[in-house]
Formats: sequence, C-alpha cells, structure tokens
Amino acid sequence: MSRTATRSVSAAASAGAMTTPAQLERLGEHLRKLRLLKSGERLEAMLQHAAAQELPYAEFLEQVLGEEVAAKMSKNITMRTSMARFPFVKPLETFDFSYQPSIDAKQVQQLASCHFIEHGDNVIVLGPPGVGKTHLAVSLGMKAIEAGYRVLFTTAAHLIATLTKAHAEGRLDEKLKVFTTPRLLIIDEIGYLPIDRVGANLFFQLISRRYERGPMILTSNQSFGAWGEVFGDRIIATAILDRLLHHAVTMNIRGNSYRLKDKLKAGLVRPHDDSSSQPGGEI
Ligand SMILES: Nc1ncnc2c1ncn2[C@@H]1O[C@H](COP(=O)(O)OP(=O)(O)O)[C@@H](O)[C@H]1O
Ligand SMILES: [Mg+2]
Repeated sequence: MSRTATRSVSAAASAGAMTTPAQLERLGEHLRKLRLLKSGERLEAMLQHAAAQELPYAEFLEQVLGEEVAAKMSKNITMRTSMARFPFVKPLETFDFSYQPSIDAKQVQQLASCHFIEHGDNVIVLGPPGVGKTHLAVSLGMKAIEAGYRVLFTTAAHLIATLTKAHAEGRLDEKLKVFTTPRLLIIDEIGYLPIDRVGANLFFQLISRRYERGPMILTSNQSFGAWGEVFGDRIIATAILDRLLHHAVTMNIRGNSYRLKDKLKAGLVRPHDDSSSQPGGEI
C-alpha cells in the first residue's frame, strides 16, 4: 500500500481525521440549504470513506457532485415519466423485435436517439391491434424523457373529448396549450373510435399548431386511405395528413398480435396471413 505523497495532503484524509461535530452540523446545514439531499444523508459515511481511501480533493468533490447529479437526474426522469401519463411503462429493451420482423429494428434504434425530435419530425405507427404500436410509442417516449424532453401521452379519443369540452366552455386556447407545450406529444389509437365534425376540426387545429414545431408520435389501426372515414370528412383528413406527413417517418407493422402469442404457439388460432395484411385488418 504505497499511496503517494500527493495523497497525504488530501482534503478527505484531514476531513476524516479532524471533522468536528460542529463542522459536521454546519456541512449538513449547507447541504440542506442547497437541497443536496443525497449527500446530506450520507455525509459522515462519505467523509469516512474519503479519509480511508485518502482520496485527492478533486476526486472527492467529483464523487460528491457526481452522486448528487445522478440522484437529481433520476428524480427528474421519474417526475417527467409520471407527468407523461403513459398507460404503462415499458422500456424499448423489453420489446421483442424477433416476434415482429416487419419492424425495422435499426430504424427504431435510430428513432430512440431522438434526432427526430430535434428535427421536428413525426413518427406514425400503423398496424392491426396487438402488434406493439402503443408499446413502441411509450418506449420512444421514455427515450425522449431520458434525453431531457417533456412528453405527453394521450389517446385520440381522450384528446378530442378534452378539446370538445374546452371548446364548449370557451377554454379552447388554454387546453390547446396543454397539448402544444410538451416537446413530444404521443397520440395513440387514431381510428378506434369515429370522430365527429367538431372533433375533426379541433384535431386539425392542434395538428396545425404543432406543425413543423412540435414532433408527434401517432398510432393508428387504420391505413391513411381510411382516415377520411375516421375523421368523417375526406377534406379535413387530407389536410391533417398533409401536415403530418410533410416531415414524417411511417412504420407499417404487419404481423400477429403479441396478445395471441401463446395461443398461436399452442395452435389455438391461425397465424396472420402476411400477404393480406393491412393496417386495420383484424386477425
Ligand atoms: N414485440 C413485442 N415484444 C414485447 N411485448 C410486446 C410486443 N408487441 C406487443 N407487446 C405487448 O403486447 C401487448 C399489446 O401491445 P400494444 O403495444 O398494446 O399493441 P397495439 O397498441 O398495437 O394494439 C402489450 O402488453 C405490449 O407490451
Ligand atoms: Mg395500442
């Protein structure tokens, strides 16, 4: 054990040896005021560890601040994850790409780097029920949160019901802000429920506000050609698609529902015929 002479002047060694109770109390008070709670909890143990290891000044400070930053970041991610209102929390690492070969895993990994958010691009995920559209949208949303962005998840039905109510109460502008402020907005399940004329107009207003500024991830069980029926108006649907698709990546998932995985394995249901697969097609 030959620690060098430079280490003998380490702050921590002397701190460990000479920390008085009054000093400890003052340090604790400073940390509380600075809200460095993590270090506050472990102050004595950290000083003792530093003394025992004879850590140099810079190393000790780096350790203290590094732990504090990591704790704050993790707290921040937890908070933003809860603010995003995901229906479930599933990281991309839990997605089984081998089950869904029509998905370009490389493309998804690229999206996970969040460049599409910087560029203001949209991501549109199409496919029949159970193929992992919501899972992918949530997983990419989580990557965006890790990268520091604010994210909000909603379904088309909830979004339109919320905007319709706000419109009726004269609070539309205020409510639109809820959906335009988050850097990434995820709109899940377009096409599951029919949308009336007022709803379609409100949806269009939101898309126009976010156009070229606020990236979105949208999922739908209906092909683009069927969006005229979804929105009950071909002209509005075209106007919506025109803006959405201007800068967009579309993923068309063809395959079997993951929900039926075990039943398929047991031969209880027939597998999906890939040649006839269309978004919206039920298996
Ligand atoms: N390839 C996959 N790997 C792991 N889990 C998956 C996969 N695809 C779907 N799932 C899971 O199956 C369920 C249904 O997927 P979901 O994303 O809700 O489908 P969709 O939104 O397309 O209807 C979810 O619990 C999801 O996590
Ligand atoms: Mg879904």
